[in-house]
Amino acid sequence: MTPFCGESRQLAGAAGVRIREIVAGDEDRIAELLDGLDATSRRRRWFTGAVDVRRAADWAAHPERCSALGLVAFAGEEELVGHAVLVALADGRAEVAFEVAAPWRHHGIAGTLLRRLIEEAAVRGLHEVHAEVLPDNADMLAVLREHGPHTESRAGGVVTVSLRVADEPRRRSGGCGGATAPRPTAVTE
Ligand SMILES: CC(C)(COP(=O)(O)OP(=O)(O)OC[C@H]1O[C@@H](n2cnc3c(N)ncnc32)[C@H](O)[C@@H]1OP(=O)(O)O)[C@@H](O)C(=O)NCCC(=O)NCCS
Repeated sequence: MTPFCGESRQLAGAAGVRIREIVAGDEDRIAELLDGLDATSRRRRWFTGAVDVRRAADWAAHPERCSALGLVAFAGEEELVGHAVLVALADGRAEVAFEVAAPWRHHGIAGTLLRRLIEEAAVRGLHEVHAEVLPDNADMLAVLREHGPHTESRAGGVVTVSLRVADEPRRRSGGCGGATAPRPTAVTE
């Protein structure tokens, strides 16, 4: 279990956003977040606008059912403004996905969630994290591409962006600049 799992960690920055692992009782607030996503966001997240939000929230609120890791971002004490999940696959890779409430986008929340998920993937011995992204989802592609070295493939109208996990510990301990250094955001630990 990584230090951030199961605890709240205050994130600096104007928004005062904090990130913690999902706990029992988060389901309703996750459902509120997902319910608030507009049609474009739903299509970008689930590749369909006809998602069953309550079912998606139930799945998201119980990552332990599939040995996944779920993180939530809070503004203040109550407002759940972001969610991310890492689902480990059998081959040492993991898939990640994100939702951030529209008013809270472009504050680095997804980027911070991605970094936390990759740290956890390293702890779990996973070697690669990837996300499947629709080509018009510029923000998600930017978050993944700006994280660091990556590869991309495209099939069936979906872009798969893959990030190597093996570089993460080196990057964190090295403290060097370059392509893999964390970029400045309004949301920092
Ligand atoms: C895609 C999504 C998760 C991105 O969330 P986000 O919190 O806005 O992402 P970030 O803020 O980390 O980064 C997104 C953009 O903000 C920029 N950004 C990061 N920190 C920033 C800051 N402090 N100030 C301004 N912009 C910032 C990023 O560089 C990127 O901008 P760019 O495209 O101009 O390079 C969000 O738009 C969303 O929920 N979309 C709908 C669901 C979805 O598409 N999910 C992904 C499916 S895998």
